[in-house]
Amino acid sequence: MKTRREVLLMLLAAGIVIPFGGCKEKGIVTYNNLKAAIIGETTASAKYTAFAIKAREEGYPQIAVLFDATAKAENVHARNHKAVLSQLGLKMELFTPKFEVKSTRENLLNAIKGEGYEVDTMYPDFMNAAMKDRIDPAISTFSMALHAEMTHKKFFTTALQALDTKSVAQLSLEYFVCSKCGNTFSSETVGARCPLCGTHREKFFHFKG
Ligand SMILES: [Fe+2]
Ligand SMILES: [Fe+2]
Repeated sequence: MKTRREVLLMLLAAGIVIPFGGCKEKGIVTYNNLKAAIIGETTASAKYTAFAIKAREEGYPQIAVLFDATAKAENVHARNHKAVLSQLGLKMELFTPKFEVKSTRENLLNAIKGEGYEVDTMYPDFMNAAMKDRIDPAISTFSMALHAEMTHKKFFTTALQALDTKSVAQLSLEYFVCSKCGNTFSSETVGARCPLCGTHREKFFHFKG
């Protein structure tokens, strides 16, 4: 017997739109989580764009293009979360992203920590709350973001290892971002379709250093 979460992930992977139920009173935790996720993703997007500029200044075009691609992926997540919030009849308050730019090594450590929090804590918690609230579009958008953040954490960890072993030149100079779910691929991992949502490669965003 598959769990509710497994069934929803299968439907999502097949590109099936999931209707939502529940009422506003029951969904207050998920509404707040959607807003927190929008702030987190928007801030991550702005931060990675700034980290890309810093990486280029330091002579690491491979790391710069990775930050540019992940900035776009976070932007896709923020867009998807906002669409769900809007579908639920709610609006996002204005806010200003806050972050610090340090050295590229410190920026990579910051990015790995941020992705780790999203993968290990934030999105699993948000998905559990959305399941309790029975707000299926929120489960879908959190699930898509969670899977993409896993790839980001791996890419950033690989980049940090390359920096520490002076082998940055061997990293990919080309990345692709799924326009529907934000899943992220290097030139080595990209395929004809997104394995998460089925979107065709023609619709991916393309980044080249
Ligand atoms: Fe990410
Ligand atoms: Fe996708």
